[in-house]
Amino acid sequence: MILEIKKYPDPVLREKCEEVKEVTDEIKNLGRNMAETMTEGQGIGLAAPQIGELKRVITVQADNQLRVLVNPKIIKKSKETVVGEEGCLSFPGLFLKIKRAKGIELKGLDGNGKEIQIRVTGLTARVLQHEIDHLDGILFIDKIGFWQRLKIRKKLKHHGSY
Ligand code: CO
Repeated sequence: MILEIKKYPDPVLREKCEEVKEVTDEIKNLGRNMAETMTEGQGIGLAAPQIGELKRVITVQADNQLRVLVNPKIIKKSKETVVGEEGCLSFPGLFLKIKRAKGIELKGLDGNGKEIQIRVTGLTARVLQHEIDHLDGILFIDKIGFWQRLKIRKKLKHHGSY
């Protein structure tokens, strides 16, 4: 099922999500619907608050792998950082250069509730950091410097301040 994607400045994007206590059929279904919605929107990542659900669930499609992650938690970040361009399904048409850790180690549950621990780099690491930020109400526009902010100010102006 394709879900409606909430666009900035929808206040739900600023909420902090709750831990999922149990991966029930409802959560599995949410993961499936999010993956479908992400693919339909030609995105490579989606977080539950973007479809109005305040639960710690994300989907990521990168490096030829589709992942559904529940309660993802970054347990290690590389000191080394990389700058790369990011988009967000809640900000159609906006692309920003964002600095992120090059590699991360993460633990959580997969879409079936199985415990996992993974180490990733490259695009997967970037998308995961972006999506996990969403679960705490953090958006990629919060991560840019003065000059980029100035450049996009006009674009975001009719949405109010941020
Ligand atoms: Co996003």
